[in-house]
Amino acid sequence: MLDQRRDFLKATSAGAIALAMNDQTVRAAANEQLTVAVIGPGGMGTSHTNLLAARKDVRVKYVCDVDQQRLAKAAEAVRSTSGKAPEQVGDMRRVFDDKEVDAVFIATPDHWHAPASILALDAGKHVYVEKPCCHNIREGRLMADAVARSGKCLQVGTQSRSTRVIEEAMQRLHAGEIGEILVAKAWNSQRRGSIGKQQPSAPPAYLDFDSWVGPAPLVPYRSNLLHGVWRWWYDFGCGDMGNDGVHDIDVALWGLGVDTHPSSATCMGGKYFFDDDQQFPDTQYAAFEYPVDGDPKGRKKQLIFEQRIWSPYVQEGYENGAAFYGTNGVMILGHTQGWKMYGPRMKLLAENAGPVELPRHHTNFLDCIRGTQTKLNADIKAGQLAAGIVHLANIAARVGSVLQFDPVKEQITNHADANALVRRQYRDGHWAVPVGVA
Ligand SMILES: NC(=O)c1ccc[n+]([C@@H]2O[C@H](COP(=O)([O-])OP(=O)(O)OC[C@H]3O[C@@H](n4cnc5c(N)ncnc54)[C@H](O)[C@@H]3O)[C@@H](O)[C@H]2O)c1
Repeated sequence: MLDQRRDFLKATSAGAIALAMNDQTVRAAANEQLTVAVIGPGGMGTSHTNLLAARKDVRVKYVCDVDQQRLAKAAEAVRSTSGKAPEQVGDMRRVFDDKEVDAVFIATPDHWHAPASILALDAGKHVYVEKPCCHNIREGRLMADAVARSGKCLQVGTQSRSTRVIEEAMQRLHAGEIGEILVAKAWNSQRRGSIGKQQPSAPPAYLDFDSWVGPAPLVPYRSNLLHGVWRWWYDFGCGDMGNDGVHDIDVALWGLGVDTHPSSATCMGGKYFFDDDQQFPDTQYAAFEYPVDGDPKGRKKQLIFEQRIWSPYVQEGYENGAAFYGTNGVMILGHTQGWKMYGPRMKLLAENAGPVELPRHHTNFLDCIRGTQTKLNADIKAGQLAAGIVHLANIAARVGSVLQFDPVKEQITNHADANALVRRQYRDGHWAVPVGVA
């Protein structure tokens, strides 16, 4: 938050600064109950709803979903856990208009992440948004701009960043325990199901499909588009690389210690296994090179990503993992389990295991709002860099080329068709299309 405050101070007028400081002071009471809303209480949104309803320092005032069945279920979960029934709404603008709401938890499909976050930030709300934080590279930039101009906190839902066993691993890597880390690899090796092939049909009566699609191009409903399945469709998701893969990519970037986008990206991949409607690769090998300017020793660094979502077995002991290749040793890490660190000739140097700590990620966010913690563990920059890797790999796989990327301008400089994919198409005139997408 301090970093955000710094950016904010640079970017805003004195009057706005005074207002923000006042806001900070008001929120400083450590035990103040914050009023929140959960937008999209589906799969992951249900986990957020249940955890938030159980907290004494939070009041869940709203649940918001375009699926009446999910909405009613979420409301009942809040009522039975907290003793107080939340308001049920289908239009997120009702939440943004309510001055009592301090923060929103956004767990919608990916195509709604940036539009909803930007609207919320501009309405003065703090935002917790699920990963990948943005559906495309351009929207990531617009989100970062919205964070800077609003001065509000934005936490990305990559909870490994608040998981103690992973924090310890990162401290050891950054302390140089395996030397200089020049290469990191993240992977996603698991067996997914087919989504089949479906023809358009009428949406169920309990679903407001038009609002579900929102600012994305209005395509016909089909039963293998939602719920959850949207992640395999270009207009709505980012494939499994943006789903499970992005957690490991985020940890890999954290350990590698890079704080910029890569300068080049390549990805070989496609649908080698599934014969269904899925649009993203089921098999992917991607590699990224980082520019020397960001590294204190002027060395290049490399990130590798592998994905096989037809594997009924894991890789290096972990379904989803990351490896860090240092000049003196290697660390193998599973973000939901723990890590092992080896020296030359694979001598075990240290290991640890522990659970993922989602409640701690919530606490970090809520405490930053109150001002009792000063650093968001998964801020917009971390979210943007991890999501950027996903988007670059998916673009490279689509166009079949090595891409040169300008990390500052966030443009692909050697391939016009690929560069067109740093942004997406929108539904003309929809109220949630972010300003500045063109
Ligand atoms: N952090 C994690 O470990 C983790 C785990 C799983 C999923 N996720 C993320 O959570 C998000 C949701 O994934 P999921 O699997 O729960 O998907 P899901 O399809 O089960 O749930 C999404 C919910 O959002 C609702 N929704 C859609 N449009 C809406 C709108 N305009 N207003 C309000 N609600 C709307 C849907 O009706 C649905 O209930 C994704 O971004 C995913 O990547 C994160």
